[in-house]
Amino acid sequence: MATLSPILSIMVRAAEKAGRVLIRDFGEVEQLQVSRKGPADFVTAADKRSEEIIFEELKKAKPDFSFLMEESGEVTGNDKDNIWIIDPIDGTHNFMHGIPHWCISIALQSKGKIVAGVIYDPAKDELFHAEKGTGAFLRGNKRLRASGRNQLENCVISTGYGGMDKQRHSQFVEEFSQLITQAPMVRRMGSAALDLAYVAAGRLDGYFERHIKAWDVAAGILLVREAGGMVSSIDDGSDPVYSGNIIATNNQIHGDLHKILKSAKQKAA
Ligand code: IPD
Ligand code: CA
Repeated sequence: MATLSPILSIMVRAAEKAGRVLIRDFGEVEQLQVSRKGPADFVTAADKRSEEIIFEELKKAKPDFSFLMEESGEVTGNDKDNIWIIDPIDGTHNFMHGIPHWCISIALQSKGKIVAGVIYDPAKDELFHAEKGTGAFLRGNKRLRASGRNQLENCVISTGYGGMDKQRHSQFVEEFSQLITQAPMVRRMGSAALDLAYVAAGRLDGYFERHIKAWDVAAGILLVREAGGMVSSIDDGSDPVYSGNIIATNNQIHGDLHKILKSAKQKAA
């Protein structure tokens, strides 16, 4: 395996340390499925523990950096230009239901740009990493490249949605119904960060989602771009890390997928 840069080594160490604890917790979750309430509280505690481990590790290595975390929110350090963006379990519902498709996502934003990203899937022991300008990799040195498929009908597209809001549902239903007439192989796998890592790896050809947060997508956006894919907001030219809506594809189908989503938005309005 090629040597990781100092910054990636710090991030990988933190992700793996939290991953070791989470994989033990994931084993416990199975035992808790039979109770009526299920393992919800246990998983919330696991989520927080994972975030604490990552926070401590990163803080030890870079005491001045700031943080943006799913569970604890913002922690501003002396250095406001460098921000760790952390999702301690992405795919929480998969984790809670014993489905082995969830991950830890850590990104470093420096002066407004995502410069490093690590996505670790402990259940499959797959670690995806990227640094700005140097490519995206799967641990073991495998360079990641987005796929080359250019016909939507041959593409596998992933998406996500959440919440119980009726307006959001009708928009999603419109998007879905327009999409499947051109791209019938649509997936909803339950981890936005892994969806993006899979676009980078060429496993998925595209991914889109609305109402998404920076910690879900920050590391994955860098992975996709470093793998030669395209990422943008769906609705305008704003930064997809913070816009809350995202479309990420190989560099062949971005325009076609975007056109469908725009038309669906108009129809749902
Ligand atoms: C969720 C997952 C899911 C996506 C949701 C996210 P969480 O994150 O990434 O795939 O559809 O929008 O909130 O809650 O599992 O960390
Ligand atoms: Ca998440």
